[in-house]
Amino acid sequence: MGNLKLKKHVSEVAKNALGKQYVLGRKEKVSRGALNIGRYYALDSSLGAEVYVDILRPHIILICGKRGYGKSYTMGVFVEEIARLEEEIKNNLGVVVVDTLGIFWPMHFPNMANVEKLSRWDDTPKGVDINLLVPKKFVNEYRSKGIDAHSFSIRTSELSPFHWCQLFNVKYTDPFGIVLTRAVLKMQSESNRFSIQELLECIKIDKRSNDAVCGVAENFLAMAESWGIFDRVGMGVNEIVTRGGIAVLDISHLSDQTLKVIVTSLVGEKIYEERVQERKIYELKKMGHDVEENGIPMVWLAIDEAQLFLPDGKNSLSKDVFINKWMRQGRQPGLSLLLATQRPSSLDQEIMSHCDIILCHRLTSQEDISALGKIRPVHMQEGIRESIKKMGDEKGVALVIDDTSESVHIIKIRHRHSWHGGAEPLVIEPQ
Ligand SMILES: Nc1ncnc2c1ncn2[C@@H]1O[C@H](COP(=O)(O)OP(=O)(O)OP(=O)(O)O)[C@@H](O)[C@H]1O
Ligand SMILES: [Mg+2]
Repeated sequence: MGNLKLKKHVSEVAKNALGKQYVLGRKEKVSRGALNIGRYYALDSSLGAEVYVDILRPHIILICGKRGYGKSYTMGVFVEEIARLEEEIKNNLGVVVVDTLGIFWPMHFPNMANVEKLSRWDDTPKGVDINLLVPKKFVNEYRSKGIDAHSFSIRTSELSPFHWCQLFNVKYTDPFGIVLTRAVLKMQSESNRFSIQELLECIKIDKRSNDAVCGVAENFLAMAESWGIFDRVGMGVNEIVTRGGIAVLDISHLSDQTLKVIVTSLVGEKIYEERVQERKIYELKKMGHDVEENGIPMVWLAIDEAQLFLPDGKNSLSKDVFINKWMRQGRQPGLSLLLATQRPSSLDQEIMSHCDIILCHRLTSQEDISALGKIRPVHMQEGIRESIKKMGDEKGVALVIDDTSESVHIIKIRHRHSWHGGAEPLVIEPQ
């Protein structure tokens, strides 16, 4: 498509948007349950009609783009929009943001730095009511800085021998791996509540254990205790996902990447299991049975830096949860994913085929453009490379590939109402 043709296409879309409420990710024309994420963007940088994304159905959305061009910012816009949905819709949804860098807690505050820019879009600054969850060990640190944080923990008994061996990077067949596996299975068979200390005691009284293995166990389990995330009781999934609630799971303090992956996978797994159960109740209710939907609502899980959790090539725990379950089977239980990555080429390539909306900010690496190019849908009349080039280098501008309406657009994401915590720090503020 030439320049002119693309321009015409964009303005056609804008016209549709004005007249018919054009919604990305949706076939029907319904005016409710849509997120207003920005405006159509013409090649002369002028802005067209508002852009909406469907929220009534589950979606898998990928946001990509090079460093500093708006991925986390856009993710925040989606969260803000869910937060301001009408109550009836919002109450059937719960949002969980997995925050690996600790940049989402400032969403609680209004974006006072951009009052003027917001007013140009007829918007005003507004904070989002979030439930900031941090590992129990760090709660006081946040509170001492005046940040309202709540304790988050994982029940120790939920970790399988496989999880423990991964965390400590030991093999099942190592002397310590053998004893650890035996102890975890024994404790799990006796109770679903035990502490790390009780697990250690179990290893120590194992007759087939020896001093060397006990020493290793003491060191490793002391390390696990120091992470401050595992707990005898732990947090229930219904305390993380609530109706209309936005939970920010700040795991930035967990220094070990494997630990971040395990924690996120365990949360993802529990949400999946709960929603599979809840779906049965939803079905019975639809058939007219007198049952109450009191489980967790449909879930939107946002994962920034997704390449860390769903890397290409390597098998990982999170791939089993998020690709095999959330992506392949998540539509039925009502699970949606919002993923962001700098490196689409580093993501497991199956992910692209599951995404129904791809939002691509500026991208210049050949490798990443080629990775996206592989999914070039039939309705795209020109290559991804050419389309990305045309977007220019304005921050917040994105190419959108929408599988549902089989269309491609260039849009400008709107300004944030809430404070964006991911901006680059500057040595001095420019005059
Ligand atoms: N839609 C937008 N409107 C206005 N400014 C924006 C928009 N999107 C991004 N920006 C600007 O770009 C900056 C960087 O955005 P963001 O933090 O989202 O980058 P990123 O793509 O997540 O980068 P990284 O890969 O380093 O995490 C923001 O601090 C903001 O100043
Ligand atoms: Mg970012």
